Amino acid sequence: MAVNKLFERWLPLIEKRLETISRDKKGKYENARDAAAYSLLSGGKRIRPVLMLEFYRVCGGREDVSAFAAAIEMIHTYSLIHDDLPCMDNDDIRRGKPSCHKAFGEATALLAGDALLTHAFSAAAETENVPAERIVKAIAVLSEKAGLDGMIGGQVMDLEFENVSPEASELIEMYAKKTSCMLEASSMCGCILAGADSGHVNAAEKYAEKLGLAFQIRDDILDCIADEKIFGKPVGSDEKNGKTTFVTLYGLESAQREAERLTAEALRQLEIFGEEAEMLKELTEYLLDRKY
Ligand code: IPE
Ligand code: IPE
Ligand code: MG
Ligand code: MG
Ligand code: MG
Repeated sequence: MAVNKLFERWLPLIEKRLETISRDKKGKYENARDAAAYSLLSGGKRIRPVLMLEFYRVCGGREDVSAFAAAIEMIHTYSLIHDDLPCMDNDDIRRGKPSCHKAFGEATALLAGDALLTHAFSAAAETENVPAERIVKAIAVLSEKAGLDGMIGGQVMDLEFENVSPEASELIEMYAKKTSCMLEASSMCGCILAGADSGHVNAAEKYAEKLGLAFQIRDDILDCIADEKIFGKPVGSDEKNGKTTFVTLYGLESAQREAERLTAEALRQLEIFGEEAEMLKELTEYLLDRKY
């Protein structure tokens, strides 16, 4: 599969950077440090850093910007640690292992998440060989998309909707925030660091919005039908928490059809990037039928 080549291209760089960051400044506060490393190095798919690095390459970037890619994965990982806490989704398994609070306790998991989020911004700022104004611009986008008007806002909506059933349009708005925003940050920051023009940055944002909606619908489908061993997190979590999802509103088949439609829309946004975006297309299609 061509998508394997994309992962082979970027995963070694990403994993090496995440390991270096995790081993840095060892000595104090071992518990929280170990908890952060435990979650960060436990083998996520790394979709967001891969997207960032590939958009950077497609837009002509040739430097090692894995520090920024690692920052994005650190923010994503913190969001998963907090998402699993008993006060949120209360899930015991993540990435095929006990979730952070199961392994280290709730308070340590909370602080490990805080540490990853905070450290992410210094990691991003340490990106080398890229003009400083691009780094500043990319950090501003990352902060906006991860924040209250982005991913966190989506998580707030997600919790509200455990008590009040959302309309379809509200559900889409929630997915666009909680899931698309971090994919938008990844895609846009790749373009920004490479010095792409606003036309390309905007196309990357629109692409990732559609990709994120399809990605979350597929996540909701897998929450119902996945093989837990492959999925790496509990099946039936959404039902347990009384979540309204695309599947509860429309059923499994319509949900998958909607994910297909959104994937086609995402692919259209990639046209402006020309032939170089072939691997991004492969990745987009692969994610539609993913099993984990
Ligand atoms: C999980 O994201 C959270 C959602 C937005 C559905 P991923 O499916 O990318 O999780 P990892 O990083 O591979 O564990
Ligand atoms: C996305 O929603 C969570 C984040 C934005 C962190 P879910 O709650 O469905 O994600 P999973 O299924 O636990 O990974
Ligand atoms: Mg959740
Ligand atoms: Mg969850
Ligand atoms: Mg889910």
